[in-house]
Amino acid sequence: MKDYIVKHEWKIIEEGYVPEHNQITESLLSLGNGKMGQRANFEEAYSGPTLQGSYIAGVYYPDKTRVGWWKNGYPEYFAKVLNSCNWIGINVIIDGETLDLAKVKEVHSFRRELDMKRGLLARAMDITLQNGARLEINSRRFVSMHNDELGVIEFSIVSKNYNGPISVESYLDFNVVNQDSNYDENFWNIEQIEAEANNNYVQAATKKTQYIVGVAMENSIAVNSEITDQASTITLTSGKSKETFNLNINEGSTLTLNKYVGITSSMNYDAIDIKPKSIKIANQASNYTFDELLANHTRAWSDIWDMCDIKIEGDVSAQQAIRFNIFQLYQTYTGQDDRLNIGPKGFTGEKYGGSTYWDTEAYCLPFYLSTADEEVAKNLLIYRYKQLDKAIENAEKLGFTCGAALYPMVTMTGEECHNEWEITFEEIHRNGAIAFAIFDYIRYTGDKSYLAEYGLEVLVAISRFWSQRVNWSAKKERYVMLGVTGPNEYENNVNNNWYTNYIATWCLKYTMEALLFVEKEHSEQYNKLTKKMDFASGEIKKWQHIADCMYYPKDEELGILLQQDNFLDKELTLVEDLDARHRPINQNWSWDRILRSCFIKQADVLQGFYFFEDHFDEDAHRKNYKFYEPITVHESSLSPCVHGILASKLGMEEKAYEMYLRTARLDLDDYNNDTEDGCHITSMAGTWLAIIKGFGGQRIIEDQLSFAPNLPSQWNSLSFKIKFRKNLIEVNIGKGKTEIINLNGPALEILLDGSTFNLPESNTNLAS
Ligand code: BGC
Repeated sequence: MKDYIVKHEWKIIEEGYVPEHNQITESLLSLGNGKMGQRANFEEAYSGPTLQGSYIAGVYYPDKTRVGWWKNGYPEYFAKVLNSCNWIGINVIIDGETLDLAKVKEVHSFRRELDMKRGLLARAMDITLQNGARLEINSRRFVSMHNDELGVIEFSIVSKNYNGPISVESYLDFNVVNQDSNYDENFWNIEQIEAEANNNYVQAATKKTQYIVGVAMENSIAVNSEITDQASTITLTSGKSKETFNLNINEGSTLTLNKYVGITSSMNYDAIDIKPKSIKIANQASNYTFDELLANHTRAWSDIWDMCDIKIEGDVSAQQAIRFNIFQLYQTYTGQDDRLNIGPKGFTGEKYGGSTYWDTEAYCLPFYLSTADEEVAKNLLIYRYKQLDKAIENAEKLGFTCGAALYPMVTMTGEECHNEWEITFEEIHRNGAIAFAIFDYIRYTGDKSYLAEYGLEVLVAISRFWSQRVNWSAKKERYVMLGVTGPNEYENNVNNNWYTNYIATWCLKYTMEALLFVEKEHSEQYNKLTKKMDFASGEIKKWQHIADCMYYPKDEELGILLQQDNFLDKELTLVEDLDARHRPINQNWSWDRILRSCFIKQADVLQGFYFFEDHFDEDAHRKNYKFYEPITVHESSLSPCVHGILASKLGMEEKAYEMYLRTARLDLDDYNNDTEDGCHITSMAGTWLAIIKGFGGQRIIEDQLSFAPNLPSQWNSLSFKIKFRKNLIEVNIGKGKTEIINLNGPALEILLDGSTFNLPESNTNLAS
């Protein structure tokens, strides 16, 4: 755990240059706009530890799988989000010495800050080069939310003691590699590098997948704020286009380079249009000042904040953290494109390949349901609907038949990309989360027609999978599910993981209900779909039998559900008794030791309680929580949020607050010692859940919006807005009192602490 980020309500600030923190800060201060993202790498050359990262949504490479021993059924490739063109590069050369922070003589001051309100990254440093030149460098940049194919940088150099020549080189460089590459391959083929009439342009295409990315830049340089028409020279080398300004600088004067970059790809344009489009974006932007472009970008952010800001009074650390989580989520996914999804690291690193995981359905969906238009959450569901054929193929590869679908654990296109058998073949609970998301979407929006339009096909295919995956145990006289991995990946190949068995049964029951509903309410569509799916009513008989006779491991004496068969045979020791030097255990223990221990990576039984809380009474909640939480190491970012929500519900205030900080500040404080790989974007939605469902106690109960607030004593108040169907609701929770306002929409009945209240109609003009 680290504690170097300065606490501030709207900013993430790093004071002082500490090379060991650099890669962490690079992740934290990443910028993005849903279409592309950029780690907070320095513009200028840097020879210290760094992970260069510039990413374009949807552009991936199928990196050939690497495994120790090939097993039938393994996917051929692992999809990787690619480090794309380095468009931020700016070098400063004085007296033959290139500015490189890792090599300077002295760093007098250094500060980086991310202003989340404006989506602006700024850096200020005062340094002396080895040759004695003392410079002050100030850089600001943003990745535009207003024009999501534009990046802009303002880079200025103030001479504090130097008089003489200086070269400033601004470049685009497609000679990039992925740190995460199975065979050290270069994933790009350079296609074009050119400079016509000052239009610097580089274009490359991904090998195999043939995505084309084109990047154009315009530069302008000013001395003491006066734009100079000083000629520049352009150098083209393989994959790199560089514009060099050779000038003189005097003590006290300032050189400012403005760099405007247009980035487009074949995700959105025909190949022939990529170059003119990128050039046009850079050109047009260069007619404006940095601040004018920033104003447009800031306005776009202000609209987002207006909808989804959460205000916490009395606790700067908690306030900073929730804003950081919301900011990163909207930088990653804005919901306009149903081909895109939310990678666990978003645009902040290479890990997890930028692919889609169950995280989207289990954690992110509720965030987008409440903070964006209904279409956004629907797009996330349709993404899976469109991949249904691939999920069926995926199941066929593993031997399942008759339209059974196994959605991938990790995917870009619907094909499975994960290649560890215990996850690929066994972590099948992901199918359950995808079905649950359909239920959750309908429960929240009331849009039941989604079942007839899209949902039913997915549910039937998933149910077919479960009905083939279980087997009848003659000994137990129950259905069992053998050889699975639950959400707790610190145990593999277990039998009867309670969570998996439970969600499988729930899927079967929900699918049967959905079939009845569609048959009754949309009979024409029902006939069409049953024909398309070759659905036989005999299937229901088997599903019902499984639902009635599933085996669930439990211990009557302790009053708990068991994570899996024989869980209690483990040596049960507590996390609090673990030597701190052994944590996180996934970085200190052998895998074998982890598997044999009782320590749990993330909510497993408790994940089930979170999804299906109304299926269990409070006593069951409490007993299971008290048993499992003390043996959970929370080494998955997805863990503390679920525990936080349950702790709030159980009135365990201190625990709920501890879990909130752990999920909310996971990256800011580097709890799991892995922020340098990138931020945990999907679990950031969990942070939002920990506030709204945890402290706000928000639920849908019998089709009604409900709140049961539990304000942490450290906070004076908590305020947020949520969209619910036709309404926009504001919730203000203070000490001992809650105010709920219908900001816009028809009259609405809501529940507050179990009592019904009527909110009158409101026609507030939201634009005003
Ligand atoms: C978790 C998975 C999760 C993945 C991506 C893993 O560490 O155990 O549940 O899907 O990270 O966030």
